[in-house]
Amino acid sequence: MPVPYNFDEIIDRRGTGSLKWHYNDDTIALWVADMDFKAAPPILNTIERVLQHGVLGYTKPTDALYQAIIDWHGSRYGLALNKKHILFSHGVIPSLALMLRMFTEAEDAVMVNDPIYAPFMTKVEQNSRTLVTSALKEVEGKYQLDLADIEAKIVEHEVKLYLLCNPHNPGGRVWTRDELQALLSICKKHDVAIVSDEIHQDLTLNGHTFTPFLTLAEGYEHKVVSLTSMTKTFNVAGIKSSIIFAKDEALINKINWQQRLSDEHDLNLFAYEVTYSAYKEGREWLAQALTYIETNIEFAVQFLNQHLPDIKVMRPEASYLIWLDCSAYGQDDKTLYDALRDAKVELSAGIQYGDAGHLKLRLNVACPKALLIEGLNRMHAALNSVNGHK
Ligand SMILES: Cc1ncc(COP(=O)(O)O)c(C=O)c1O
Repeated sequence: MPVPYNFDEIIDRRGTGSLKWHYNDDTIALWVADMDFKAAPPILNTIERVLQHGVLGYTKPTDALYQAIIDWHGSRYGLALNKKHILFSHGVIPSLALMLRMFTEAEDAVMVNDPIYAPFMTKVEQNSRTLVTSALKEVEGKYQLDLADIEAKIVEHEVKLYLLCNPHNPGGRVWTRDELQALLSICKKHDVAIVSDEIHQDLTLNGHTFTPFLTLAEGYEHKVVSLTSMTKTFNVAGIKSSIIFAKDEALINKINWQQRLSDEHDLNLFAYEVTYSAYKEGREWLAQALTYIETNIEFAVQFLNQHLPDIKVMRPEASYLIWLDCSAYGQDDKTLYDALRDAKVELSAGIQYGDAGHLKLRLNVACPKALLIEGLNRMHAALNSVNGHK
């Protein structure tokens, strides 16, 4: 019998330098995407073992680490990899920025969806590329790719690169094989490269199936890169570790060369060790964490339906983030955010995810249930107090 892990334990993260819990009052943090759970015991034991050994010198990835990555992705998702397809990076977003510079020149058009995880847009702009957005369509409470709009804009703007978020943040969609295939066909037709951010891949809920983009890309592998990490999966974002997958030899050599130009191809000792331990020993913790998250999602959805029935709730197919349309509760974004701040609860402001985020909020439910309940009660009070709503 596996040991049950305790996800109900409330751990005070204030005063630790936590990005999420940055307050010096009793505000409840239901925003940035990390979980308020302790890391899996096997991961903590691994760090303990390294400390006991006591020597923290230069480290390189072992064959066992490569094998753990290959086994995880092969057994769970049918993604066939070998060591030559794998590079390391200290973050998915740093890699995404590198891919922008690899696949495009200044001013070239890069497409992202709207809404989208904010750095997809900011990195395009900071790197002096031209941002082209394609709004997702909302059909029966779920986002869908607007394939006609995507193709029309690819042609109109001569898009060179599509940055895909698979599964999608903030909407929580796990794109199906058919949807991805349709997107790939359009990109192939117009010679558009695809970089797929798959950091939420392991957080699929309620039986949804994640499809790695690279499993579809045969014949187009010279134009496809996937970026992933175990940091979101195992709640170790502070460790800073991620992986780049590319199956085309010339492409991966080129990426490797670009990384080496600024010596950014290797990770710190803890990142290698934690990545190995997570993929090798983390399955049981992940299964239990996902069960806990599913229960919290169910609870939050029911609470919102009952107490704030005018919020349109987008139930996620992956991740612990719930996208909320609060347009019935406010006419402008600032009023909404101010009301929450006054009630001492913080959610992610929708507007940072693009125009589609107007009057929306992103709720993070990966926390002990008692915290979630208190946070939802504060939300209830805040939104009911917003001027004009009864
Ligand atoms: C879609 C997506 N990509 C990337 C990241 C961050 O990745 P990293 O910390 O490895 O840069 C996040 C974090 O929330 C995310 O949601």
